[in-house]
Amino acid sequence: MKVPREKQDSRLMQAMFDAIAPRYDFVTRAFSAGLDRKWKRDAVRKADLPSGATVLDLASGTGDFSLLVRERDPAARPVAVDLTHSMLVYGKIRGLPEAVCGDAMLLPFSDGMFDAAFVGFGLRNFPDLPTALSELRRVLKPGGTLVIYDFFLPEPKLWRWIYLGYLYLQGAFWGLLLHGKARIYTYIPDSLRAFTTTSKLAALLEALGYEQVRTRSLVFGGLAIQWALKR
Ligand SMILES: C[S@@+](CC[C@H](N)C(=O)[O-])C[C@H]1O[C@@H](n2cnc3c(N)ncnc32)[C@H](O)[C@@H]1O
Repeated sequence: MKVPREKQDSRLMQAMFDAIAPRYDFVTRAFSAGLDRKWKRDAVRKADLPSGATVLDLASGTGDFSLLVRERDPAARPVAVDLTHSMLVYGKIRGLPEAVCGDAMLLPFSDGMFDAAFVGFGLRNFPDLPTALSELRRVLKPGGTLVIYDFFLPEPKLWRWIYLGYLYLQGAFWGLLLHGKARIYTYIPDSLRAFTTTSKLAALLEALGYEQVRTRSLVFGGLAIQWALKR
C-alpha cells in the first residue's frame, strides 16, 4: 500500500494544510453538498457529553467540532489541537476559545484530562494509527468518549473503486480551480487508499482498550462516524 508522502513528513503535511487553510471551510461544505455540518452536529449530539465537559478537538482544523460542542453546551470547554498553525488562526477568527498547536503522536496533555475527544477528518493523516489511538485513550478519562468522523474504505470492492475515482475527480476539480494544483485535494483519495474500513477500525479500537464501539455509516460506508468509550 502506497503511503502518501505528506503522511510520512509532518513538514509536508503542514505545508499542504497551510495552503488549504484560507478555503478549508468553503471546500468542506462544497465537497459534502452542505451535509458535513449536519453530520458533525449528529456526532456531537450522540456523544452524550456531560454538562460542562472538557473536550479535545484533535486535528481540529478551523474548529468545527469545538464550535458545535460550545453551541450545544455553552459551559463546555473545548480545546482545539492541530499541527498546522494557520488552521488555528482561522479557527480563532471564527471564535475558537482554546487552540494549541500540537501533534497527535504526542499530545501535550496529562492523563485522563478529557471527558471526550473528537477527531474529524484527522485519523487518516496520522503517521501511526495505533499510536494516535493510544494517545487519545491516555488523555481520556475512564469511560470517556472518542468520536471519529472520517472517510473510510467501503467494504464492497466495486463501490470502493468507484468511490475512490469519484473523490479523485472531485478533488482534482477543486484543487485546480482553487489552487491551480490538483494534488492538494487528490491527497484525500490517496490517503484513503492507505486507510481502513469501519469494521477494521472498530476491531483496532477494541484491541487498544476501547469498548461499546458504535458506527454510523454514511455514503454507503465511504464516510462514517464512530463512537467508542475508554474501557
Ligand atoms: C482535513 S482537516 C480536518 C479539520 C476538522 N477537524 C474537520 O473535521 O473539518 C485535517 C487536519 O489535521 C491536521 N493534522 C494532520 N496531521 C496531524 C497531526 N499529526 N497532529 C495534529 N493535527 C494533524 C491538519 O493540520 C489539518 O488541519
